[in-house]
Amino acid sequence: MKLTAEQHAQFERDGYLFFPGLFQPDEVRSLTDAVPDLYARREAYNVREKGKDAVRTNFAAHMVSAPFARLARHPRMVEPVQELFDEPVYMHQFKVNGKMAFEGDVWQWHQDYGTWLNDDMMPTERAMNVAIFLDDVNAFNGPLMFIPGSHKKGVVDAKHDLTTTSYPLWTVDNDLIRQLVERAGGKNGGIVSPTGPAGSMILFHSCLVHASTSNLSPWNRVSVYLSLCAVSNHIRRHKRPEYIAHRDFTPIDCLPDDCLLKDYPVDLPWKDGMPASALQTSSVPLADMKEAA
Ligand code: SIN
Ligand code: MN
Repeated sequence: MKLTAEQHAQFERDGYLFFPGLFQPDEVRSLTDAVPDLYARREAYNVREKGKDAVRTNFAAHMVSAPFARLARHPRMVEPVQELFDEPVYMHQFKVNGKMAFEGDVWQWHQDYGTWLNDDMMPTERAMNVAIFLDDVNAFNGPLMFIPGSHKKGVVDAKHDLTTTSYPLWTVDNDLIRQLVERAGGKNGGIVSPTGPAGSMILFHSCLVHASTSNLSPWNRVSVYLSLCAVSNHIRRHKRPEYIAHRDFTPIDCLPDDCLLKDYPVDLPWKDGMPASALQTSSVPLADMKEAA
């Protein structure tokens, strides 16, 4: 899938591109059918909503589930990102966020690159977020909200919020959000919320400020969030467990376009459980580790 010159300009200006209905219902079904089994597992990679059993976010599904491993290598998802970076990419993070009916909690205003810089020592912003809707997303089930153009601010001030939700996040304070929204047009487009059918995809810049509200509707809002990093920009520290920030910097090799409809063979290294090494962390940068060895 080639991007047009207009899409390149739009990405540059707004910090995101929206592709409604990019994946067909039978392609999406192969993924949604695999979610209950993933969410049922009592593993560290399933983070549940505060005080509840509902899964907030599942990490590393592409290491345990064949349909998600195929999605991780889907050309409709990977190629536009490679095109925007003009370089091969590897999988930095893979999440299946639940945002379940009545239970899904908020995601506070944040940028992703701030965390990747602070925690993982990722050198630059050359990593892309990709959201793929597994359910229809509407105004009521907690759609993602963006502040268009906010990626141009680079990394903004953030505080480490360890209490609001069940997952620690570097969050941006309200005063700065107010300013960014005003600058982006205030009530006229200062916040946007791409909504659409299951199978829609969004590419968004790793510095784009985003959030989502809770889901009080009776409709689940399961979405996949993948973070693809340019290979030369790989992380330099393993401060977070491997199931959150991946350590295999091999460029993604795409499968054929029909890979969600046919059983192409894929490796599932964590199918029978995560190795102990995936939970080990270190605050020592990789270059220093090499020197010490
Ligand atoms: C995220 O920013 O990582 C998740 C946001 C959401 O699921 O709405
Ligand atoms: Mn995010």
